[in-house]
Amino acid sequence: MEGTALMTDAAAENTGLGQRLNEALPVSPEAFVSAMRVQATAVNVVTSDGPAGRVGVTVSAMSSVSAEPPLILACVNRRSPCVATIRRNGVFCINALSVEQSHLADTFAGRPSNGVPFDFEAAGWTSLETGAPVLVDAVANLDCTIHEIVEAGSHTIFIGLVLAAQHRNVKPLIYCDRSYGAPGPLGE
Ligand SMILES: Cc1cc2nc3c(=O)[nH]c(=O)nc-3n(C[C@H](O)[C@H](O)[C@H](O)COP(=O)(O)O)c2cc1C
Repeated sequence: MEGTALMTDAAAENTGLGQRLNEALPVSPEAFVSAMRVQATAVNVVTSDGPAGRVGVTVSAMSSVSAEPPLILACVNRRSPCVATIRRNGVFCINALSVEQSHLADTFAGRPSNGVPFDFEAAGWTSLETGAPVLVDAVANLDCTIHEIVEAGSHTIFIGLVLAAQHRNVKPLIYCDRSYGAPGPLGE
């Protein structure tokens, strides 16, 4: 592994590629956002509760990281007050929304078509291990303690160690090109 990395570095240096990549400019935020907008993602509400208070925020930037140990990550914009709250509580739960729960995606993005932004009364909640709000009837709930926090650009990456996980056989909500949808077999 180490040898491969060394060879790759040496090859890049020989061709001047390493030098050129170091000097390269990133694409514009507009080009980046356009390329990401067409990606289909699941939609989650990341919740937290504890001494710093209860919060929830809609997040599509979520990924599994590792199975052993079970690690998962969520990226939250540092502008969101949720970042400080999750950090101070030390726990969070990733709640993957079902197709029946698209209204919650908008509620926890602060733009509900009906009702109050970020209103926990909009859904039923329970708890598992950490005390973070666990959304009833979600596709999946992954209840975590914070394993690591990484700052990356505009976002804070919360990597969670999963203490409890549960799921249901209901259709997950999908977000693509600024619209909500449901997955279905090809050809339908
Ligand atoms: C479908 C969808 C996905 C989103 N994904 C993310 C995300 O991955 N990370 C993030 O920080 N914000 C994401 N947002 C935006 C936040 O939910 C929204 O900016 C935030 O709730 C606004 O809170 P504020 O007014 O406290 O800043 C998403 C919003 C929607 C509707």
